[in-house]
Amino acid sequence: MAVDNRPLGIFDSGVGGLAVLQEIKSLCPHEDILYYADSAHFPYGSQEPQVVQQLAMAATAALVDEGVKLVVVACNTASSAALSLLRQRYPIPFVGMVPAIKPASAGTRNGRVGVIATQGTLQGQVFADLVAQFAEGVTVLTQACPYLVEMVEDGETASPQVLCLLHRYLDPLLAQDIDTLVLGCTHYPFLRLAIEKVVGEGVTIIDASHAVAQQVERVLNSHHLNCQREGQGRVTFLTSGPQERFREVVARLLGPQALLSLTGSL
Ligand code: DGL
Repeated sequence: MAVDNRPLGIFDSGVGGLAVLQEIKSLCPHEDILYYADSAHFPYGSQEPQVVQQLAMAATAALVDEGVKLVVVACNTASSAALSLLRQRYPIPFVGMVPAIKPASAGTRNGRVGVIATQGTLQGQVFADLVAQFAEGVTVLTQACPYLVEMVEDGETASPQVLCLLHRYLDPLLAQDIDTLVLGCTHYPFLRLAIEKVVGEGVTIIDASHAVAQQVERVLNSHHLNCQREGQGRVTFLTSGPQERFREVVARLLGPQALLSLTGSL
């Protein structure tokens, strides 16, 4: 059996991909992981697709220079704008993310699904194609959520401002009777408790982080890229922004305990 001890690369515009990182850590605990937060160019979601493509190329180049064996684009906006381009340019496998329209459409009981994501994701062709392919007969109601990602980047997940923004974005979807809500941006799972509070028990929340980790596991297996290591893999963080700020927000979002369990360095 082939063995490959190079690290996995993950990138996002900031801390959003950390939820995906945690899922990958729990499914593939022995793998070394290099996480790149492109915080200097955050947010991606309000920028032109061509700009996001350039940023995604630069982030990928940074990871490839570090010798990664696979790249997880842990950002719906970057996957939507750049995933096909990245696959053309680099000979390594990529795992990207799209809003989970397929499971939401399969699971909705009343045929009404809400999707929250960045403007870039919702306006892209990838999203239109997903809806056309998987949501036949389902009413898909979308809502872009400016400033929510900024809140998460500040480590704010339950403040009155967060709840106020969530009400502004989610109340109109609730008024249209959605029974399923897709979290179409990797920053939003950090707001899950606040979102649950706003939407109540009747709405099923769908977050793709675990499914992405499962896909990473499948790709490692099918490409014979698994590492051979006894102990826990090492997590290393890179950021294009200020390191101390990134360290603080990682500790705030994942908790000091989780940070300790990431044997990482900045
Ligand atoms: N986390 C990114 C996503 O999944 C977007 C955040 C941003 O706007 O930079 O879409």
